Amino acid sequence: MGAEYHRPVMLEEVISGLRLVPNGLYFDATVGGGGHSYAILEREPTARLIATDKDGDAIEAAGKRLAPFEGRFRLVRADYKAYEQVLPEEKLDGFLIDLGISSHQIDDPSRGFSYRTDDAPLDMRMDRRSALTADDVVNRYPPAELRRILRDYGEETFANSIVKNIVRLREKKPLATCGELRRAVEEALPPAKRSAACARQTFQAIRIEVNGELDGLEGCLRGLVGRLKKHGRACVLTFHSLEDRIVKNVFRDLSTACICPKSIPVCVCGRRQVVEEITRKPLVASRQEQRENSRSICAKLRIAEKIVE
Ligand SMILES: C[S@@+](CC[C@H](N)C(=O)[O-])C[C@H]1O[C@@H](n2cnc3c(N)ncnc32)[C@H](O)[C@@H]1O
Repeated sequence: MGAEYHRPVMLEEVISGLRLVPNGLYFDATVGGGGHSYAILEREPTARLIATDKDGDAIEAAGKRLAPFEGRFRLVRADYKAYEQVLPEEKLDGFLIDLGISSHQIDDPSRGFSYRTDDAPLDMRMDRRSALTADDVVNRYPPAELRRILRDYGEETFANSIVKNIVRLREKKPLATCGELRRAVEEALPPAKRSAACARQTFQAIRIEVNGELDGLEGCLRGLVGRLKKHGRACVLTFHSLEDRIVKNVFRDLSTACICPKSIPVCVCGRRQVVEEITRKPLVASRQEQRENSRSICAKLRIAEKIVE
């Protein structure tokens, strides 16, 4: 594993968003290399932390990184959506979900996440114990399903022609590597649209499908807010518009009180405001951070505070 597993994005904004309290209990749902978790434990010396990641490499890297805080944290290799099985009864003072992939996952060619690595196998699994791989999606999904994925998860305008070309190629011989997939995308695009990064959206779409990244996010977010104490903070970092839309809609919904028409004197809808949005508009990384870490360029941070018990 390389020296820097992952540089935490918007670290200062996340830490101030969580508004750490003495003896607070925090949940880092996507621990990665442990950068955000380290800052939580360092900045608030009485804080305790539970953290999950479904990638075994992340759990190993975070374990090493957080070693100085032995006794104050617990790491669990799990999907954060299984938080019910991981978290104790005690309510949380804050949680962080830092979505997307880590630099380690992109940079390790054996993981098959990057359109820049030619010989990497079509894998893209964050959890290498799970069954579905990018190879299955690319070589076995029906064309209509593949088109939907590229359109919905990659917002790819040329989904039709890309899928046509993939199907044409895989009928002769299954695509085996990231390089073959990248070339299949390039060939399908009009010459003016071919560039070094023109397969980015296709790779993103397939990665989202392989890891079920959007499945259950809404329900999980609502459930985790339910696990917060009054004044507990929820911080969510997203890296593409589909995720951000889900987070925005959940926070907006939970911050809405009674919706009865003004003409009705007594509330009949029974709605109650659960959170206050600390960020009506998402925060983005500073110019300096964007210059220093290109992975922060599309980051959006939304923060909400629970206002009920
Ligand atoms: C952007 S990285 C997190 C980086 C981390 N905040 C840090 O400071 O190093 C995202 C991590 O989330 C993990 N991940 C993504 N979806 C997950 C899920 N559903 N359950 C658990 N971990 C997940 C990935 O394996 C990856 O390690």
